[in-house]
Amino acid sequence: MSKSEVYKIGIVKGDGIGPEVVGAAMEVLDVIGEKYNHRFIYREALAGGAAYDKFGEPLPQETIDICKNSHGVLLGAVGGHKWDDLARDKRPERAILGLRKELKLFANLRPGTLFKSMADFSPLKTEIIQKGFDILVVRELTGGIYFGESGIKITESGTSAYDIEMYSQAEVERIAKIGFEMAMKRKKRLTSVDKSNVLESSRLWRKVVNKVSKDFPEVELKHMYIDNASMQVIRDPSQFDVVVTTNLFGDILSDEISMLTGSIGLLPSASMGSSAFGLYEPIHGSAPDIGGKGIANPIAAILSAAMMLRLSFNLDGEAKAVESAVDDVLSMGYKTADLRPERDRLRTTAEMTDLIKNRIHSNGI
Ligand code: IPM
Ligand code: MN
Repeated sequence: MSKSEVYKIGIVKGDGIGPEVVGAAMEVLDVIGEKYNHRFIYREALAGGAAYDKFGEPLPQETIDICKNSHGVLLGAVGGHKWDDLARDKRPERAILGLRKELKLFANLRPGTLFKSMADFSPLKTEIIQKGFDILVVRELTGGIYFGESGIKITESGTSAYDIEMYSQAEVERIAKIGFEMAMKRKKRLTSVDKSNVLESSRLWRKVVNKVSKDFPEVELKHMYIDNASMQVIRDPSQFDVVVTTNLFGDILSDEISMLTGSIGLLPSASMGSSAFGLYEPIHGSAPDIGGKGIANPIAAILSAAMMLRLSFNLDGEAKAVESAVDDVLSMGYKTADLRPERDRLRTTAEMTDLIKNRIHSNGI
C-alpha cells in the first residue's frame, strides 16, 4: 500500500472500557494522520454485548461486512457480567471467535515486552527481571480445540462432554511459517510449544514445524512441552524470542507472559491472515467494573493502533512515533490508576491520551 492512500479502518468498540480506549486510539491515529499526511476513514460496527443488546446477536452480518471492507480493524474488548448467563452462541465471546474465523485470521501475535519503566511492576524477582525480556507469542487462532468437533453425550451412567483438538498439516505449516518469519525479523530464535509426549496432534505439529524449519536455516529452533514452557517463562523469560504454539496453549501461555511484564494494561495484539489485513486489540478485557468512568488505561489500544500502522499499512515510522511517545510518557512517570503511579502523576484516560498526542507532536520525525 503506498503512503498516499486512504486507509479504511473498521472500528469495533465493544463493551466495558472498549469504547473509551478505542476512542483514545482513534484520537492518536488522527494526530498521526495530521502529522504524516494520511487519511484514516473510520467505519463503526457493533459486536459483543453491545450488538446483542441492539440486534439480539453478538456478531451481526453487517459487522462482518464492515470489517471485510476495511484495511484493518481496531477492536476494544467484549463481554461483561451482564451477558454471563446467555446461551453459548449468544455470548459476547462468540463475536471474537466468529470474527477470527470469518476474517480468516489464523495468526495471533502477542508481544510480551517488559517496558523498562515498568520493571518494578513485574511479579518476578529483580535478579530474573534485570536481564529484561521481549517475547512474541505467535498463537494459532482458527483451529485446534477451539474449533474442533464438540458435543455432549448422555448415557445411562451420566453426561459426558467433549472438545476435539485437531490440526491439519496445512494449518500447522502456515502458522509455523509466520513463527519463522517473525523470528527472522527479531533475534532468530523460535520455540515451538506442544505436548507431543502425549498428544497425537502435537506429534504432527512437531513434525511439520521441523519440516518448515528447513526453509529457515538461520533460525535456531527449539521444541518445548507446554508444561515445561509454562515453567521456563517464569524461571528465565530472557531465553525466549518468538514462541509458536496452538490455539489453547497460546491462550494460556500469552496470559502468563503478559502478567510477567507487570503491565497487561499496556499490551497490544494483532490477528493476521494471509494478507496485510489484520484485527488489532488490547490483550486486556472489557473491565466492566470501571467502564465509562474515564480512568481506563488507553495504552494497549493505542499500541494496537501502532501495530496496525506497521503490519497492515506498512507505516513503520508512524508506528515507531506512537510507540516512542508512549515510552516517553511512561518514563516520565505518568500512569493511569491501574499502574498505581505516584499521586502527582496519576492521569485519567483523556489526560493520558493528550500526553501521548502532545508527545507525538513535539517529537521529531
Ligand atoms: C483471548 C480471549 C478469547 C480466547 C476469548 C474471549 C474467546 O481469552 O483473546 O485470549 O480464548 O481466545
Ligand atoms: Mn485469553
